[in-house]
Amino acid sequence: FVWSLSVYSQPKVNYDEKAIKPYVLPELLVLSNGQEVKSVEEWEHKRREEIFDLFKSEVYGRIPDLDLKPTSEEIIEQSDMALNNSAIREQISMVFSSGEREITINILVYLPKNIESPPVFVGYNFYGNQTTTTDQHVIFTDSWVRNNTDYGIVENRATEESRGKRNSRWPIQKIIDEGFGIATIYYGDVDPDKNDFSDGIHPFFYEEGMSKPKTDEWGSISAWAWGYSKVLDYLKTDRLLTDSKFIVFGHSRLGKTSLWAGALDTRFDIVISNDSGSGGAALFKRKFGETAAIINANFPHWFNANFKKYSNNEDALSIDQHMLVALVAPRPVYIASAEEDKWADPKGEYLSGYHASPVYNLYGKKGLPELEFPETNESIHNSIGYHVRTGKHDVTDYDWDQFIKFAKKHFNY
Ligand code: GCU
Repeated sequence: FVWSLSVYSQPKVNYDEKAIKPYVLPELLVLSNGQEVKSVEEWEHKRREEIFDLFKSEVYGRIPDLDLKPTSEEIIEQSDMALNNSAIREQISMVFSSGEREITINILVYLPKNIESPPVFVGYNFYGNQTTTTDQHVIFTDSWVRNNTDYGIVENRATEESRGKRNSRWPIQKIIDEGFGIATIYYGDVDPDKNDFSDGIHPFFYEEGMSKPKTDEWGSISAWAWGYSKVLDYLKTDRLLTDSKFIVFGHSRLGKTSLWAGALDTRFDIVISNDSGSGGAALFKRKFGETAAIINANFPHWFNANFKKYSNNEDALSIDQHMLVALVAPRPVYIASAEEDKWADPKGEYLSGYHASPVYNLYGKKGLPELEFPETNESIHNSIGYHVRTGKHDVTDYDWDQFIKFAKKHFNY
């Protein structure tokens, strides 16, 4: 990856637990006026709103509330005999346009046969739907794709060579065999992942004379979260998914996105973040691995302009990421870490679940009650779920086994 050079040349990356300076997390259950929050009512009507407002204005950015509807929405390809006759495949094209501008979001869906309205995992992929499976029928994106010589992507265009290259992260057959559906979307269809606000969905909402969002308005993570909700709008109308439940899932930068999307859109019944790290599940104030300063320097477009004030200034943040996890309550949320993924601060990811737990407790639900970091490869499946598995920054079969188990348990399925 291009950014690794700049990232690792940063001088002050701390990987030493003992070198973490004492920090104070903002109070989850105290209103800005100092009053304590003691009921679900007060949480939902007062504190939750305050916290949302802080994440919008200081971190991810406000999503314009103009309700943009697709100009067209069509199933452009389908089959009842996909994956050796074990699944239904649908490919949906959602087009959004405004004046000359147009974006097309392609949704690839696989569903088990003979199960009505199965629960569906909804997740973005990094290089196009064709990378998630070797299935020859999967349609390529026309959007900008990051170059990757291993996948034969050289001119920012999806290629045949990239087909199936990421299938280890997408065990579609297993998901189907377990009775779940899966919907995947290329995130660059919504907003290409580069520091450029002239493409993707942002410009659709500019007022006269604007060339980038205002300081408190949306960066790319908020844009991708918006995309998740638009995809869900469609899925909710699919004739095969009338009573389905939906699980929003994402890895890494897309795990940051799934948490924010799942917090914002309560129609997602379960939220899963895999190795989401800085700006995802990890606590900023620990300053372990990737910090606010590093992420702002390398990926300034992910957050809003206001967030830049917190580079090397985490103490000034009036939120931390346990509050993001808490925004999902009382819906089940799963946080997955990988032992070797120190960059994403596994312990900080766990602790945000631990510190979010008091909100789950308000609802009579169990979060992560133990302060002690769990053993490797021992998963927890309370209303907040967690595991740290052996291995690197990736999505593995172990991760999927836990996500499936978690969803089955909480859906009673
Ligand atoms: C970089 C970045 C992380 C991000 C990751 C990814 O490593 O620093 O914040 O999660 O890319 O998306 O793979």
